[in-house]
Amino acid sequence: MTILRYRASIAYITIVLLALTWGAVNLAIADDVLPTEKECTQLENPNAALKGWCIVIDREKGNCLACHRIVTEKWPLALPQGGAIGPPLTAMKHRYPDKVKLREQIWNAQSGNPHSMMPPFGKYKLISEQDIDNIVEFLLTI
Ligand code: HEC
Repeated sequence: MTILRYRASIAYITIVLLALTWGAVNLAIADDVLPTEKECTQLENPNAALKGWCIVIDREKGNCLACHRIVTEKWPLALPQGGAIGPPLTAMKHRYPDKVKLREQIWNAQSGNPHSMMPPFGKYKLISEQDIDNIVEFLLTI
């Protein structure tokens, strides 16, 4: 009887431990790799930067990958790399200490380069002002 109870508690502890480790592993993955387009639809309470990333890769919103590669260690391997029409987006937080300049590039790329191929996302209302703020928050994490 006692042995049976002892075995049952070992099994119980093992299950609890497995459940805990599984949770920790899942959290680690979520933290190390950015979500894919599909995973973006399943996020719970994403912060501004994560929302921004999801707009960047959304083909019906930012579609930034049509023209840009994004240099980040957190790249999700399932996502194809971006294009090379624009420069690779890298080291943004160092290169844009002034957030306003970065926002302006996305709001209206023609203000920096009148012949820019980059769509003026804000000026032409291609995405919302909030979307642009979130994209800026994301870019400042790379
Ligand atoms: C049709 C192509 C195209 C798309 C789509 C596009 N860009 Fe660009 N982007 C460019 C080009 C070309 C440049 C080079 C500078 C210029 O011409 O304005 C550029 C420049 C930039 C820069 C300045 C780069 C630097 O290194 O300082 C940023 C930031 C940027 N793009 C962000 C974005 C974001 C964010 C999106 C999506 C919301 C996006 N771009 C979508 C073509 C594009």
